[in-house]
Amino acid sequence: MAFRVVILAAGSGKRMHSSLPKVLHTIANKTLLEHVVQTATSLGSEEPPIVVYGYQGETVKRMLPNLSVTWIEQNEQLGTGHALQQALPHISDNNQVLLLYGDVPLITNETLKTLMNETPKNTLGIITANVINPTGFGRIVRDESGQIQRIVEEKDASELEKKICEINTGIYFMEMKHLKTWLPRLSRQNSQQEYYLTDILGMAHQENVPIHSIEPKATEEILGANNRAQLAQLERYYQRKIAEYWMEKGVTIADPNRLDIRGEFKSGNDVFIDVNVILEGKVEIGNNCKIGPNTILRNVTIKDNVEILANCVIEGATIESHCKIGPFARIRPETMVADHVEIGNFIEIKNSILGAFTKAHHVGYLGDAEIGKKVNIGAGTITCNYDGANKHKTFIHDNAFIGSNSELVAPVTIGECATIGAGSTITKNAPANQLTLCRGEQRSIKNWQRKKKILKETT
Ligand code: UD1
Ligand code: CA
Repeated sequence: MAFRVVILAAGSGKRMHSSLPKVLHTIANKTLLEHVVQTATSLGSEEPPIVVYGYQGETVKRMLPNLSVTWIEQNEQLGTGHALQQALPHISDNNQVLLLYGDVPLITNETLKTLMNETPKNTLGIITANVINPTGFGRIVRDESGQIQRIVEEKDASELEKKICEINTGIYFMEMKHLKTWLPRLSRQNSQQEYYLTDILGMAHQENVPIHSIEPKATEEILGANNRAQLAQLERYYQRKIAEYWMEKGVTIADPNRLDIRGEFKSGNDVFIDVNVILEGKVEIGNNCKIGPNTILRNVTIKDNVEILANCVIEGATIESHCKIGPFARIRPETMVADHVEIGNFIEIKNSILGAFTKAHHVGYLGDAEIGKKVNIGAGTITCNYDGANKHKTFIHDNAFIGSNSELVAPVTIGECATIGAGSTITKNAPANQLTLCRGEQRSIKNWQRKKKILKETT
């Protein structure tokens, strides 16, 4: 079946009160328009979806340069009928047309497939929904036999019609040949002086073109994001669905309402995710991992048996198996952590490699460092990687022991099995197998007296 998807996205979205066009607002970090385009593309039409754009159209196109769609401009927003008409010259006559909306982001592939499969040739298919509060939607007017007669917009509806709870979602599946005769006949004689696409249902009814309606599985699928409250409502629904999906796949989620997944997520089995976790970008977690509360993972790969304790922020890193990270660790991009590594609290790591079984338990900064296996990094160790102009590397070879509160001034190399005495500022390479230390001699002053508090006399 040859069909073409058209997505209307020319409206301004006044109720967002935003400098951004509505379709560029996001759910789970992805623009509303991308959600719809992705679903549209998944339906398998041979040609890319057509997006009718208008309000701040150049911004939309500039912000989404990689979207595989045919962009059609609607210069003036004269209504949904007028918007669809702009697309007609770009669609072959023998096609069917599926109409979607850039601001109705969560419509699913399954519901659209049902609509397309259950709408025979030469008929018109529509998705309607029975809702508790139909305010703002067009209402479906049916005759005594239950056939759809027409759609009436809220602003044109009588008091009686406003009581109808079956609403128009605006999603239709239609024949090009019908659209070519119906759209030119639309008029603007209505309260909004717009070309209402909805009027084609009345035309179909009059011409005895059968109208088939289906309902979506969940009402949220057909809801628009017209204001920030609706956007938040759809975000919560979407997050809930993702959480349910992963729970089915073997992930334990402490509270599905307190997990946000904003990107591509993959997980193994027996993963436990505690509350207030945010997963952004590409996040992959292996089997038997624990992600502690209040943790943010962004573009991170975590292998098996890893435990991330509370309050970690990890970005652009790979963590091999059996590692223990946190609480309160910050790992920044380009970091590779080999297996059995332990990274404790208040450690910041950037663009560094940590070899297997290496430990950095308390407080410190490791930047631009290549650290070997079984290295012990003492509390308070800092790699001084930046000289004010350039960044330099620190190399720490296998089995080295860095005493607490050491500064390693890069470029510098600490040899294999080297020991650095606590409190050292290392500016030259430290040879293998030796103790290197750099600090003042300890001395004690006999008969030294600590100052005493002078007590004020009370008069
Ligand atoms: C429309 C329907 C209404 C339905 C509702 C579902 C009409 C006349 N009414 O109303 O029956 O219940 O959707 O959400 O169709 N757009 C353009 N160009 C325009 C006008 C609109 O591209 O000139 C786009 C908008 O960007 C939006 C969509 O079409 O994505 C719907 O337009 P909107 O003005 O929001 O229509 P509603 O009043 O919600
Ligand atoms: Ca709308």
